[in-house]
Amino acid sequence: MSEVMVKKKNNTVNKASKREENSFGLQKEKANHIIEVNDLNLWYGSDQALYEVNMDVPEKQVTAIIGPSGCGKSTFLKTLNRMVEMVPVVKTSGSIKYRDQEIFNRKYKQEYLRTKVGMVFQKPNPFPKSVYDNVAYGPRIHGIKKKEILDQIVEKSLKGAAIWDELKDRLHENAYGLSGGQQQRVCIARALAVEPDVILMDEPTSALDPISTAKVEELVQELKEKYSIIIVTHNMQQAARISDKTAFFLNGELIEFADTDHLFQNPQDKRTEDYITGRFG
Ligand SMILES: Nc1ncnc2c1ncn2[C@@H]1O[C@H](COP(=O)(O)OP(=O)(O)O)[C@@H](O)[C@H]1O
Ligand SMILES: [Mg+2]
Repeated sequence: MSEVMVKKKNNTVNKASKREENSFGLQKEKANHIIEVNDLNLWYGSDQALYEVNMDVPEKQVTAIIGPSGCGKSTFLKTLNRMVEMVPVVKTSGSIKYRDQEIFNRKYKQEYLRTKVGMVFQKPNPFPKSVYDNVAYGPRIHGIKKKEILDQIVEKSLKGAAIWDELKDRLHENAYGLSGGQQQRVCIARALAVEPDVILMDEPTSALDPISTAKVEELVQELKEKYSIIIVTHNMQQAARISDKTAFFLNGELIEFADTDHLFQNPQDKRTEDYITGRFG
């Protein structure tokens, strides 16, 4: 384990402790942790897929997750909103706190969690409905019926996903008729429509062409002003371009977690170095 990723156990989160003094004696705001993962283990039946993962996810930043295929990136991401438990044989141990609340607590409302911690998948997965109905889907489930309000949410969400100008005259067309890149941004708009706080993205550009990829990357940069983003990518250049922090996973273990520049320029663990220099994976 590298020095940078070793985190203190039982770190009580206390607002005052999040400020540190810089060399001029000025108060410098340190990033808040929106999600704190402690000693997380996960098994699919008897196969262990995550081992003792400890990670503090900063608020309103982009955190990238990299590592070779099968190392547990998607599993980890889906654990953060407990979606992984849709696989019936999944067992977990350890702790995940979202805004200081233990999400594994039996009383924690999973619906609330999935609203606040939204997800965008590798393959764009719009519903076979109009653009409008895709984006209005979540708000309608939450009981919003008024057309004017839904109109506002749809417009705001599509603007938030940087696709309003392209689609404002096509709101009632079926989303299946859009390009892959447009579909992915509609899926991002659909996630934004329920006012999430954290957005999990699992290789959101791997099915897209380079121009659509650039648009989604640019969008991620804009979204971090309002949301905390965790993005899995198998593309290290992408991680280096768009993320503030990077986590490197290998065989279900978090090997290193550090500022992105630091991880790529000065990896502390030999395995990270081998991976980012292309020696395996
Ligand atoms: N639904 C599942 N049932 C059983 N094993 C699974 C399931 N999903 C993933 N795994 C296993 O968990 C490990 C991590 O997979 P995954 O999280 O998909 O890795 P990555 O996203 O890094 O490619 C792999 O060994 C994979 O075979
Ligand atoms: Mg995956």
